[in-house]
Amino acid sequence: MKAAQLEDIRKFKITDVQKPTPDGNKIIIDVMKTGICGSDIHNWDNGQPKGLIMGHEFTGKIVDPGSRTDLKINDRVTALPISPCGHCEACETGNPQYCKETWTHAIGLSLDNPGGLTNTIAVRPDMVIKLPNNITDEEGAMIEPTAVGLHAIHLANIKVGDKVLVIGGGIIGLVSAMFAKLEGAEFVAISETNEARGKKSLKLNVADEFFNAKDSNFLQNIYTKVPNGFDIVIDCSGNTKAVESALMTVKPGGTIILVGVSTKPIEFASVIAVMKELTIKGSIAYTKEEFKNCISLIANKKIDVMKFVDDIMPLTDTQKAYERLTSGTDEAVKILIDPNK
Ligand SMILES: NC(=O)c1ccc[n+]([C@@H]2O[C@H](COP(=O)([O-])OP(=O)(O)OC[C@H]3O[C@@H](n4cnc5c(N)ncnc54)[C@H](O)[C@@H]3O)[C@@H](O)[C@H]2O)c1
Ligand SMILES: [Zn+2]
Ligand SMILES: [Zn+2]
Repeated sequence: MKAAQLEDIRKFKITDVQKPTPDGNKIIIDVMKTGICGSDIHNWDNGQPKGLIMGHEFTGKIVDPGSRTDLKINDRVTALPISPCGHCEACETGNPQYCKETWTHAIGLSLDNPGGLTNTIAVRPDMVIKLPNNITDEEGAMIEPTAVGLHAIHLANIKVGDKVLVIGGGIIGLVSAMFAKLEGAEFVAISETNEARGKKSLKLNVADEFFNAKDSNFLQNIYTKVPNGFDIVIDCSGNTKAVESALMTVKPGGTIILVGVSTKPIEFASVIAVMKELTIKGSIAYTKEEFKNCISLIANKKIDVMKFVDDIMPLTDTQKAYERLTSGTDEAVKILIDPNK
């Protein structure tokens, strides 16, 4: 079967790989749709690890139900891509996102567990979730990033009437902005360096205002519009400069949620956080409950995630899809890959 494997910095190659075979335990799944995530883009940018088959946001059809007696062939499923140990304190208290093992064998994020950028994958049974019939394959691939946004918003503790700034209008930023409104935020702004994406957040009606982070008057524009600062600032860009702007635009007593991933050190005078009595929280992944909440929200049409999907491209166009998502000018936010196209 074919796979898109990470070959080098910003480079995929389409290869032939071995199809996984049933082992009585893992669930063998034919991939229907797979999403491209901002985290995948970090791996692509770094070209590491070589040979990686990404795709941790997917919908598929069961070929072999492995050890799950409650599932059968052709059931439509998705899975939490994480690999928690299941018995540490974090796992036992319903917080697998804190488990030390969570990312070591994650689907599509580790070499030993290929993700959806191929035809068939083998997934550990306890992470697989059957999808209701009223969720499409495309929506199924949107559950994982939606759950990331939901977790961030739960940590933000937004109150009705709050003013919220979301930094970065990629899928995580857009979903977070959507949930911030649902939580009762009175004003939600998005800042972006990609003007097309920023404007798109207004068109999609998830933000009330867009601030261009490339504008030389960027901070001034925010101070003019929101003189007292934001109650909550959520960084969904992973850019260190953006984190600095969060410190400058959050209101005294406010909260900063860091969702974006950056390994570059950030330098800031801690006195800013002291004087403003800031709460700064990281947000990683989601709980299983939040993941399931997103399935219900989508299935019951409480949220529309399809408005964020810009295109569905064949596996052989994976390279093109990544280039489009990183052009810095294209308004596309979410591209799904269909390995059967
Ligand atoms: N914490 C988690 O659990 C988790 C889960 C998924 C993704 N992530 C991370 O969240 C981030 C967003 O994910 P995504 O899929 O939306 O990625 P994305 O790359 O599609 O979106 C990031 C956006 O930030 C914008 N941006 C860059 N610098 C900026 C700046 N200085 N100011 C404003 N905007 C800026 C980019 O133009 C881009 O549109 C990534 O870093 C990703 O790795 C974290
Ligand atoms: Zn993701
Ligand atoms: Zn654990």
